[in-house]
Amino acid sequence: MMLSTMRGNAPNHKFAGSGHSKKGHVSLYHSLVLLAIALGFTGQVLADCECGYKSDSLDGSYDQNAFTDLIETNFARMPDITLNTDWRRQEFNVTKTKARGEYGQMFYVKDDVAYVDNIGNRAADGLQLVVRRDLIDGMVPVAEVDSARLDISYGTFRASMKLTDVPGTCAAFFWYFNDTQEIDMEFLSKEFDHSKSTYPVNLVLQSRAAAAHGYDASQTDNFIKANLPFDPTTDYHEYRIDYNPSEILFYADRVLLATMNGSNVPSPGSHGHLIMSHWSNGNPKWSGGPPQEDASLLVRYVKAYFNSTDLKRTQDWSDRCKNAKNTSASVCKIPVVTTHNKTAKDWFFSDYDDMSKNQTVYDPSSGGGKTFEAVARWMVMVPLLIAAFVGGLL
Ligand SMILES: *[C@@H]1O[C@H](CO)[C@@H](O)[C@H](O)[C@H]1NC(C)=O
Ligand SMILES: *[C@@H]1O[C@H](CO)[C@@H](O)[C@H](O)[C@H]1NC(C)=O
Ligand SMILES: *[C@@H]1O[C@H](CO)[C@@H](O)[C@H](O)[C@H]1NC(C)=O
Ligand SMILES: *[C@@H]1O[C@H](CO)[C@@H](O)[C@H](O)[C@H]1NC(C)=O
Ligand SMILES: *[C@@H]1O[C@H](CO)[C@@H](O)[C@H](O)[C@H]1NC(C)=O
Ligand SMILES: *[C@@H]1O[C@H](CO)[C@@H](O)[C@H](O)[C@H]1NC(C)=O
Ligand SMILES: *[C@@H]1O[C@H](CO)[C@@H](O)[C@H](O)[C@H]1NC(C)=O
Repeated sequence: MMLSTMRGNAPNHKFAGSGHSKKGHVSLYHSLVLLAIALGFTGQVLADCECGYKSDSLDGSYDQNAFTDLIETNFARMPDITLNTDWRRQEFNVTKTKARGEYGQMFYVKDDVAYVDNIGNRAADGLQLVVRRDLIDGMVPVAEVDSARLDISYGTFRASMKLTDVPGTCAAFFWYFNDTQEIDMEFLSKEFDHSKSTYPVNLVLQSRAAAAHGYDASQTDNFIKANLPFDPTTDYHEYRIDYNPSEILFYADRVLLATMNGSNVPSPGSHGHLIMSHWSNGNPKWSGGPPQEDASLLVRYVKAYFNSTDLKRTQDWSDRCKNAKNTSASVCKIPVVTTHNKTAKDWFFSDYDDMSKNQTVYDPSSGGGKTFEAVARWMVMVPLLIAAFVGGLL
């Protein structure tokens, strides 16, 4: 296990670039200026990030090749999970035998993937995945959302989450291809010990079942129990998996937790999807539980930058990149969120049309892909542009 104290002070990110105006202002003068800017930009609107998104390496440099695709979801600002096309709420039942626990599991969308807490208040700062205290037909009601994209290959996957303090659940953020090709960060709430300030995270290659059964105490190259440098139950922190061809790196707020390159690194060509899950099956060797009270995992955002195994997406990337008009802006650097600098937590390329052109999250007709901010921006901009145009004619 390795816990470095390095912080990612990556130099010179190009993000929140000056050319990408996000919000309008209400005066006529400003709207005229905005109109001029908007018109001036028409030639350049297609000119950003066409060749992809570059991640910082462990040493803080941006020396890796770019990833071609992105999935970005700001759950804190998303009006309605049911409209979102990037995530699928899971609904299925697992028997006690299949769950390998004391109880079965009921993955339940109605109340357990929600924006409201158990007294009906909107959890405005994140999506809520709830594990219920009360069993239904011998099953623990649990919750999971999966990415709709199934073609996720190498990449950097980041989720901002606030974990439950209630013992007896497993919160998981993972990349999944099949039961033997899986990259997991699993948090067992019963392992959190406030009196000792120890907050472990289980980093696992291969399956959770194997982890629960074979790897309990061992520290193989496919299983590492690392300690988080903070209490994960009091605030949101960014958990990150960098899946590279030669190794897999796990981070928390840009602090390296562990590197793995063991025998269970997924084989090239594996095409996984991303999953956020909050579950319990009563297995004392793993999740424990069920929890004594309803327990929530809150997810503020997911930002994933990756290569696709879909030939169409690869072809789209090469066409896009070949036609890039501005080569210096054709690869964008992904900004870093650290414990001491969380500025980038509210930054999403997909909030800007020109920085997420041809990305699947940015289909304006889907309705669910845009955040409140992006919608609000257009609601402000369009009338302003009309007003400015009419004003200019008078
Ligand atoms: C991702 O795809 C891009 C474009 O094909 C390529 O340049 C890059 O090397 C790929 N990255 C990895 C880690 O394979
Ligand atoms: C799961 O089990 C519950 C309770 O028995 C039942 O009401 C529900 O329809 C089942 N869900 C699915 C997807 O089979
Ligand atoms: C998972 O996929 C790999 C690569 O295709 C394959 O070798 C392995 O047998 C699969 N595992 C399961 C459990 O299907
Ligand atoms: C895995 O990492 C270790 C330690 O960094 C290194 O010695 C070893 O060569 C690596 N193995 C592979 C297959 O990359
Ligand atoms: C190209 O992109 C760079 C970096 O974003 C920007 O500074 C420059 O103004 C752009 N040039 C043109 C011609 O759009
Ligand atoms: C904080 O992070 C942002 C985004 O990565 C960066 O632009 C800014 O310079 C950083 N501020 C400090 C004080 O390092
Ligand atoms: C990306 O561009 C290609 C070529 O114009 C098009 O066929 C494809 O549908 C686009 N994909 C998205 C998600 O916009």
